[in-house]
Amino acid sequence: MIRINDHYLKLKASYLFSDIAKRVTAFQQSNPDRDIIRLGIGDVTRALPQACIDAFHAAVDDMAAEKTFRGYGPEQGYDFLRKAIAAGDYQSRGADIDADEIFVSDGAKCDTGNIQELFATDITIAIPDPVYPVYLDTNVMAGRTGAFEGGKYQGIVYLDCTKANNFVPELPKTPVDLIYLCFPNNPTGTTITKDALKTWVDYARDNKALILYDAAYEAFVTDPDLPRTIYEIEGAREVAIEFRSFSKTAGFTGTRCAFTVVPKSLMAYDDTGKAHAVHALWNRRHTTKFNGVSYPVQRAAEAVYSETGKTQVRELIDYYLKNAALIRREMGALGYDLVGGDNSPYVWIDGRTDSWEFFDLLLNKAGVVCTPGAGFGACGQGFIRISAFNSYENVEKAMARIKDAL
Ligand code: MLT
Repeated sequence: MIRINDHYLKLKASYLFSDIAKRVTAFQQSNPDRDIIRLGIGDVTRALPQACIDAFHAAVDDMAAEKTFRGYGPEQGYDFLRKAIAAGDYQSRGADIDADEIFVSDGAKCDTGNIQELFATDITIAIPDPVYPVYLDTNVMAGRTGAFEGGKYQGIVYLDCTKANNFVPELPKTPVDLIYLCFPNNPTGTTITKDALKTWVDYARDNKALILYDAAYEAFVTDPDLPRTIYEIEGAREVAIEFRSFSKTAGFTGTRCAFTVVPKSLMAYDDTGKAHAVHALWNRRHTTKFNGVSYPVQRAAEAVYSETGKTQVRELIDYYLKNAALIRREMGALGYDLVGGDNSPYVWIDGRTDSWEFFDLLLNKAGVVCTPGAGFGACGQGFIRISAFNSYENVEKAMARIKDAL
């Protein structure tokens, strides 16, 4: 008899964003004339930067001629892209990361979901609440949690992020082995200072723990004092893996390209206490289960680091940040407490009512899709997340409609 992985039965019936998409589709079907503005899932709306498009086209031409055609590429990514990333994102900030510590992939969602495979099933995990659901769901699938009771999975150390701590998690009170952090944060849009991040790095070093640092939204950081990478913090090379994405940085949500940094000095331990390089384990996993991102896409990503690419990416980010500022201003003027949106594309709003009710109200009365905070965890109850990824005109229209509806 074929048996299922019982752990899947502990999951909520569907993934948060699939659930929202189903509700929006149902609403659209029963209200075919309503114009819906989507400020829910963080999906970009603007075209790729011209420098990326030009590189993409040129690479397609390479594939059209036998002399320049490429078949399978290196699973870890082409050297041209790994070198551009190491120089552009790390060495330029004084972070000591080499090209061969970078693994190019098709998405930070996949990498943050897959990385847990490397670690034992009986480790203790610390996960912020609210949180990007992929971290938690993939650990549930792997059997690292008990049942879902009272809005929380048994066996997880939740790091509550609330108004009281400015939505920045505090060190756990009980020992943990694996820690998920995300800054600028999804969903709250909050950031972390270098000093606060250092306390996490120090904790991990002192406790032989490991930090999974999701920096998919780092391009939105405009405050020069805030860290853009965890490797700006001394000692992070020994204890942290960082995830990055071109999705939100350069509009690659449909194009797919991301990368994960696994420093060679990062160790994890077997049950005798012997240290093993995580880099070698991830390389083994990556080469076994992944065949690389397509050549034209990697050329398009490389163009992000050219001088014109950098300027165009900056314009793209500034465009969405202007939307975020508008959301902050308008929702603030309506009297809502909010955070995020200044170094982040997400604004986290205290709706002072059930999240899903507020979601339904905005959809039904304003035709605006947001993301209910409760979908990100128990501490998200009462909040909604509004995303800045849409045109400025649509964000203006959405804000006017919300004002009327409320
Ligand atoms: C989000 O809206 O939280 C993100 O777009 C989801 C993702 O990047 O997978």
